[in-house]
Amino acid sequence: MKFEEQARAYRETIERYLASIYASFGEEPQKPIFEAANYSLLAGGKRLRPMLALEFCRICGRNPEEALPFAAAVEMIHTYSLIHDDLPCMDNDDYRRGRLTNHKVFGEGMAVLAGDALLTDAFAVAARAKLPEPGKIGEAIAILSECAGSLGMIGGQVLDIMSAQRACTEQEVLDIQSRKTGRLIVAPCVLGVIAGNGTEAQKEGAAGFASLLGLAFQIRDDILDVIGDAGELGKATGVDGDKNTFVRLYGLSSCEQLVKDYTARAIDCLKVFPDPSFLTELALSLTERKN
Ligand code: IPE
Ligand code: IPE
Ligand code: MG
Ligand code: MG
Ligand code: MG
Repeated sequence: MKFEEQARAYRETIERYLASIYASFGEEPQKPIFEAANYSLLAGGKRLRPMLALEFCRICGRNPEEALPFAAAVEMIHTYSLIHDDLPCMDNDDYRRGRLTNHKVFGEGMAVLAGDALLTDAFAVAARAKLPEPGKIGEAIAILSECAGSLGMIGGQVLDIMSAQRACTEQEVLDIQSRKTGRLIVAPCVLGVIAGNGTEAQKEGAAGFASLLGLAFQIRDDILDVIGDAGELGKATGVDGDKNTFVRLYGLSSCEQLVKDYTARAIDCLKVFPDPSFLTELALSLTERKN
């Protein structure tokens, strides 16, 4: 199957699974929170993270659908991070995934809770995974929590806030970006390997690939804040003025080279897998993404 065709098939499978989650919660008096969560969850992001989970499971030799609970859980946590990131007390953004941000539609209180719901419900979804080695579910849940929590994405968001208005060193920016974006890319890759019953070496390869891809991905995000089109991106541009980004450190053209370099190093980590062609094409396609 060609890359584009495979990516489309993965996205369809993921959309169907994501749509089924709150639909299965039924009629409850607190149903408005399911609607607020779904408003952002089903708004059509790129679904990069869940695709990575499915493909890592597949290249380890198992049916990619075995990784769907992990894939969906990571996408729920990612969506919660976006809802909270957009709040007036954080980045104060009005548009996300091509629509008004969650708090603009449902109010701040409900948006905070929609994020909380997605985060918490994600763990029940992840726990649905039927692993070839069922004893590994604890390890998988711990990885998910560490990547999302105060050592991972939240840690990065905290450093992002703490460093606003002050110039950071390259090492500091690397640390912020690895945590705030990198860790939620590491999680689906490693969880995909666990769902696929891969080896320790494959887990390490997946984590190495994901960390480097995460850096390339966030640098491209920072580039798009300057050169991107808000309509195409589905979110506002020109909003990173006081943020510590690589673009601020090195300027646009060096950053375009950095994206290519980190991507090449990421692809190099895939040698431990038998057929990394989809992941290679995916990584390369992200270097020139427009949204
Ligand atoms: C946006 O993530 C936030 C960053 C970590 C840069 P994505 O660019 O993956 O957003 P969606 O999921 O496609 O909306
Ligand atoms: C994203 O950082 C990191 C998150 C954990 C959400 P940004 O603040 O740069 O993401 P966008 O540009 O709003 O998508
Ligand atoms: Mg932010
Ligand atoms: Mg933001
Ligand atoms: Mg950004």
